[in-house]
Amino acid sequence: MKLLDTALDRAVVAGYSRVGYRVRAASWPDDDPQSKALTGRTVVVTGATSGIGAAIAAGALALGGRVILVGRDRERADRVRADLEARRPHARVSIELGDMSDPHDVDDLAARLAEDSVDVVVHNAGVMPRTRTESPDGHELSLATHVLGPIRLTERLLPQLAASSDARVIFMSSGGMYTAVLPVGDIDYRSGEYRGARAYARSKRIQTEMVPILAERWADASVMTAGMHPGWVDTPGVAQSLPRFGRAMGPLLRTAEQGADTAIWLAATTPRPPTGRFWHDRRPRPMNYRLLSGETNEADRRAVWNDVLAAAGL
Ligand SMILES: NC(=O)c1ccc[n+]([C@@H]2O[C@H](COP(=O)([O-])OP(=O)(O)OC[C@H]3O[C@@H](n4cnc5c(N)ncnc54)[C@H](OP(=O)(O)O)[C@@H]3O)[C@@H](O)[C@H]2O)c1
Repeated sequence: MKLLDTALDRAVVAGYSRVGYRVRAASWPDDDPQSKALTGRTVVVTGATSGIGAAIAAGALALGGRVILVGRDRERADRVRADLEARRPHARVSIELGDMSDPHDVDDLAARLAEDSVDVVVHNAGVMPRTRTESPDGHELSLATHVLGPIRLTERLLPQLAASSDARVIFMSSGGMYTAVLPVGDIDYRSGEYRGARAYARSKRIQTEMVPILAERWADASVMTAGMHPGWVDTPGVAQSLPRFGRAMGPLLRTAEQGADTAIWLAATTPRPPTGRFWHDRRPRPMNYRLLSGETNEADRRAVWNDVLAAAGL
């Protein structure tokens, strides 16, 4: 099975589609989290108003967790909460509004959660801007949404995470990051022609490369830090940002539940997975494929980390 699993991963189309999910899932029955694994635990999910995030919230509730949906839009968040409550009448779901690309919103959100317990944070909010757009504090929007806001929020939540008996922080990256080299010296994508898909891949590359560094940084708070990618998933985000890709892949795209599976598994499985790794379909995966993006060296990773720290205002 391990050989087949690796072959699917390297074959990309087969592995990232629902075919890869189905083949791998056939070997998982013994690997599912226990039925009430998240009882007594609070799971914060960003980007919970759509697609994979809403499915992560549903999965966490199904395992007995209390879920805090983080969204930007009250109506969309209310709709997701109503749907979750209709499916699970005793679900414990609350809503917090906040734009993950805006440091003021992030700080406000953290302040509102200061008296709460937080055991798991899933940084799932994602965006692929068509043109170069900046966050309120002047950073390229996909960087701000995928990297700066999530790191800032986690830093602000460290007291609660440190108080948890088993804190876990999960970054939702993308297989698209395999095509991008770490943009050393230009994390804000100021030079070169701007393309949304490129900006997206670059920011997801940065996000993924920061995971081992963050795992070290947050080790004192006993946080398990993970990066992951969900495969190719049929969501409103794909329909809107990559309509041709969505149509070409059609039924091969995963369902939102399949895309959410590894995030829920990382949040709930025991023993807890090792920190600082990159995951897909419940297994650690390489962060680089040499033919696509080469190998990242430690000096470049550290240089980008210093820029990220400054840009995140930390
Ligand atoms: N679908 C795929 O094939 C695929 C593949 C690889 C990786 N991913 C990753 O998976 C995650 C979820 O993607 P999806 O396909 O489910 O996309 P989606 O349907 O577009 O959902 C994206 C979610 O992120 C939220 N969001 C965007 N910018 C935000 C911000 N600044 N602050 C707070 N929330 C924000 C959106 O909120 P609003 O409702 O307010 O817009 C929405 O809830 C993303 O990180 C994406 O990059 C997806």
